[in-house]
Formats: sequence, structure tokens, C-alpha cells
Amino acid sequence: MTDYLIENRRFWDAYAPEWVERGEAAWRAERPYWGIWETPESELGLIPSDLAGRSVVELGCGTGYVSRWFEQRGAFVTAVDLSSQQLATAKRFAAQFQSEVTFIQSNAEATPLPDHCADLVVSEYGAAIWCDPYRWIPEAARLLAPGGRLIFLGHSPWSMVCSDNDGEAVSNTMMRSYFELYRMDWTSAAVDPGGIEFNLPLSKWFQLFREQGLRVDDYLEIRAPMDRLPDRFSMAWEWARAYPSEQVFKLTKV
Ligand SMILES: C[S@@+](CC[C@H](N)C(=O)[O-])C[C@H]1O[C@@H](n2cnc3c(N)ncnc32)[C@H](O)[C@@H]1O
Repeated sequence: MTDYLIENRRFWDAYAPEWVERGEAAWRAERPYWGIWETPESELGLIPSDLAGRSVVELGCGTGYVSRWFEQRGAFVTAVDLSSQQLATAKRFAAQFQSEVTFIQSNAEATPLPDHCADLVVSEYGAAIWCDPYRWIPEAARLLAPGGRLIFLGHSPWSMVCSDNDGEAVSNTMMRSYFELYRMDWTSAAVDPGGIEFNLPLSKWFQLFREQGLRVDDYLEIRAPMDRLPDRFSMAWEWARAYPSEQVFKLTKV
């Protein structure tokens, strides 16, 4: 395994207990919500209405609630994660909530799943930020049947450019090159050390999608809600009212 996979698995195995409470709330949620600002599904429309009988794969499922939301709408869901501890939580919730989601421990960049097995691939802050885009986007494209959809949500490139590796809150200062945006290592951060994440400038995301036969149907930039909220994950509400802290891609395999 490459260095970032080993480091991120170690990080998530250790961090898993802190995600249990948040995960349980999301498993219980009657109305799905997304990302750091808990933006309602009704605003983003990430869950298609025609899921009955469809096959869905979640890449980097964490505690598994996104898979649960898709299952509740009639899909057969396979959820992939690298961390045994995150999967232990997800499986506990699956038993508690009588879910039939199938969980697999694997690197989302190279799953054991067959070609074209998915009508939809989804990631919310899973593969979307923790995997190398040049590995996981081709893997998602391989998994998708023709006409299948890839939907993912994570940090915007803006928020990555406006933060550096010290872990301080995202600021109004450009801290790193936009054009060279790729791998971000938070392992030595003075504040809230993390793992190794990835992002790309928009032109490179779009080029990668073209190369993988993925058509962009929509691109969303998420704005923090009107009502003031406390900082979340190094992200100040004021900043995220002025700039997009998160992005969503909705794609179709052509
Ligand atoms: C923040 S959680 C995402 C899940 C959930 N949507 C959430 O926001 O809590 C990130 C997950 O990505 C997983 N992850 C990190 N690298 C991965 C990889 N290479 N393959 C599969 N999962 C990975 C971690 O183990 C962790 O459970």
C-alpha cells in the first residue's frame, strides 16, 4: 500500500470513536443532509428519485449513513471503506437499524467489485477527498454501467488554497498554489492533525472526467446557511458565506 493509504487507515482507525455519535444521528435522520453545513438534501438533490432496484456503491462510507439513505429509497447498496474501525461502527448501526447494506473493507481506488456493477457510485467526504483522484475516478468509472451516475461531495479547491498544512482555520489569504493543488498532508499540523487528502483545480477535475468518459451534468458550490453557525472542521461560517467551502459533482458515464 502507498504511504497515504497506510497513514489514512491508521488515522481513521484511531479517529473512528469520535464519529459514532454523528454517524448515529445521520442513520436516524428522516431527511438526509450533506457535508459540513448539513445542507438539506432538498437543496442539493444528490439522491435520485429512481433508485428502486438499482445497484449503488459508496466509496469511503465511514459510518455508513449515506448508504442507508440510498437503501431506504430502494437501492441495493455496497459500501466500501479502508478502516476496520469505521466499518465496525457501520456494521453495528446496520444491525441496529435492520439494514442490509453490504460492507467491504477495501481501498476505494481498487475495489474487488466487478466491472459495470453499479448504477450509481456515491461519495461524501470519502474517496471524494481521501483518495487520489487519478486512481479513484477511473475506479468509479470502471464500476459504473453505461448511463450510470457518479455523485460526490467534498471540499472545494477554494478552501484548500486558503489553508495550509498547519491546520489553522481557512483564511482569506491564498496559502498554496491553485494550479498545483493535488495532495495535502495534514499529518504534522499543529492544530488538529489529520491525514492525507487530495483535491484538484477545476480544469483538472473536468479533464479527468472527460478522459474517463464521465459527462458533467451539474456542478454545485455549497454556501454556508444564512443563520450563523460555529466553525466546523477549521472552516469559519463567515468564510463559507463568502466563498464556496464545498463542491458537488454530478456525472454520468457515457
Ligand atoms: C469522513 S468519512 C466519510 C464518510 C461519511 N460520509 C462522513 O462524512 O462521515 C471518511 C472515510 O473515508 C475512508 N477512507 C479513507 N481513505 C480511504 C480509501 N483509500 N478507501 C476507502 N475508504 C477510505 C475513511 O476510513 C473514513 O471512514
